[in-house]
Amino acid sequence: MQKKHISKAVINRLPRYYRYLGDLLEKDVVRISSKELSEKMNVTASQIRQDLNNFGGFGQQGYGYNVEYLHTEIGKILGLDRKYNLIIIGAGNLGQALANYVDFERRGFFIKGIFDVNPKLVGLSIRGIEIRLIDELEEFLKVNQVDIAALTLPKAKAPKVASDLAKWGIKGIWNFAPTDLHLVENVIVENVHLAESLMKLSYKLSEQQYPSDK
Ligand code: NAI
Repeated sequence: MQKKHISKAVINRLPRYYRYLGDLLEKDVVRISSKELSEKMNVTASQIRQDLNNFGGFGQQGYGYNVEYLHTEIGKILGLDRKYNLIIIGAGNLGQALANYVDFERRGFFIKGIFDVNPKLVGLSIRGIEIRLIDELEEFLKVNQVDIAALTLPKAKAPKVASDLAKWGIKGIWNFAPTDLHLVENVIVENVHLAESLMKLSYKLSEQQYPSDK
């Protein structure tokens, strides 16, 4: 497949295509037209065609899309055709909740370690993964190949830990701490801020209920 620049908006939509196609696959749907897919996903058929044309189309006139093929190809574009090793830094409420979530493995993300500063948590294990002291992290990264670190620790601690992780070779940071991280160029940071999503919801609700205030 030819590599060309793909807009961020298209990339942002791909996981949703992937999820819908995965649901269709589970229902043994073999093929789908862009019209049917658009109705399910509540986007226009032309948007779907435009998005997928970025990657060479995948569809056939009069046939639509082969669900399995499209799911596989979008998975490849998203880099889901490989496995990623992941660690979690901060074994509090959120860190433990992430570690308990089994679906990441189904998508190819394998949790290899959980680290915390609190010695009381050390030795506890979540789904067979032991919580270790953060002091062991550097050594751990020398002997274990890890691609992604999830940061679920207080925001004041996140920048230092993130910069250590970058220094020790981590290339992807999944940042839940509510702070912006400024790291070296080749480290990719994906921020997940539930509170920001909630604020968007609150904006939409208030716009709907009190439109004249806007
Ligand atoms: P928590 O207090 O339950 O857990 C934080 C853990 O980090 C504790 O176990 C603490 O010992 C550990 N920790 C502190 N300093 C550390 C360090 N230097 N290295 C390793 N571990 C360290 O907090 P909770 O509720 O789990 O939240 C964790 C973080 O996630 C906070 O920054 C919070 O604001 C954020 N958060 C983000 C959400 C989001 O949508 N992005 C949603 C909920 C929380």
